Amino acid sequence: MDKPNIVTCTAPVNIAVIKYWGKRDEELILPINSSLSVTLHQEQLKTTTTVATSRSFQEDRIWLNGKEEDITHPRLQSCLREIFLYSVRRLARKRRGDGDPSVDSTGLSHKVHICSVNNFPTAAGLASSAAGFACLVYTLARVFGVEGELSGIARQGSGSACRSMYGGFVQWIMGKKDDGKDSLAQQVEPETHWPELRILVLVASAERKPVGSTSGMQTSVQTSSLLKHRAESVVPGRMVEMIEAVQRKDFAAFAELTMKDSNQFHATCLDTYPPIFYLNSVSQQVISLVHRYNRHYGETRVAYTFDAGPNAVIFTLQQHVPEFVQVVQHFFPPETNGGQFFKGLPVNHAALSEELKQAIGLEPMPKGISYIISTKAGPGPCVVEDPTLHLLGSTGLPKNTV
Ligand code: DP6
Repeated sequence: MDKPNIVTCTAPVNIAVIKYWGKRDEELILPINSSLSVTLHQEQLKTTTTVATSRSFQEDRIWLNGKEEDITHPRLQSCLREIFLYSVRRLARKRRGDGDPSVDSTGLSHKVHICSVNNFPTAAGLASSAAGFACLVYTLARVFGVEGELSGIARQGSGSACRSMYGGFVQWIMGKKDDGKDSLAQQVEPETHWPELRILVLVASAERKPVGSTSGMQTSVQTSSLLKHRAESVVPGRMVEMIEAVQRKDFAAFAELTMKDSNQFHATCLDTYPPIFYLNSVSQQVISLVHRYNRHYGETRVAYTFDAGPNAVIFTLQQHVPEFVQVVQHFFPPETNGGQFFKGLPVNHAALSEELKQAIGLEPMPKGISYIISTKAGPGPCVVEDPTLHLLGSTGLPKNTV
């Protein structure tokens, strides 16, 4: 059997502070408004993908988190087709350029094997499709020698995936064109821009799987007049304000816009008919807790945002993390008091005053939150150089199948 060509890459999760909700083109995945996100650090949350190509492979195959899945999924096929087209065009240009008809076209006719895993539990309900498609496109591009703008390809896997193609603070410009060529992600500031910013993912103990974002936003576009108003009249101004807040590192402005935009997104879900509920009683308690905490200090120290599920993502500054996580632990007493409640970046211990507990004054919700992942802004996709870390072996099959 021929030795396969193998490449492994990693890609990050991103969390939107100005939300994408609603498409104007389902096929090309073109949004009805621009959005902005923070790329989370891959030390805490990442997808790793290995792509192998070989003349010996009989068919295209994909394994996700240890299980073989259907490669004919339309969005997977869109990404594969786009990479293939770019690669063919690049080859054609090269041939024209140096007039050498024998320019290496190895690999283009070969079948691909793809293997992808997350370093966080899928059950945690964190948006894994963004990191997954970003990683797939980035790795395929490396294998087939496709360079340049890749966010437009990742977008066709999952809208939010285009923002995971860059690190730091990233905007997805909605674009105007019907063919989607101008609907791309762009870095606003790199991950080093705001080193004090911290992100806490509060994983809520969800009882059931909520409505998926693809079908949820479809119903919202069809039925919610609030969503139309949001896309046309609210988001354009908010994008400008948010970019300014990020550039100035103005936490209060950043935090307020983040919370208002999350709340408006969930309001459009309630305005959808039949309504969609992503927030549960745990999410509502987090919202009250954050507002009471901020009110106690007379300034906006903490912000929340929620996607299509009950998990809260908290933004705060490094100096407030120790106290705020104590507050969370107090109002959501975990099952065990062991280290398992805190994951990710180490958090220093802080004392909690009676005064603060009383000022917040909520009834504790035992086991409402399973654990907290502490992280910060991080870089975009990376190539893994160490061949021992490939997920596919020299036969092109996964090294660890569950
Ligand atoms: C609420 O990117 O998952 O997380 O484009 O249909 O794959 P598709 O949807 P997806 O939607 C994400 C929605 C959101 C907000 C956001 O990330 O901007």
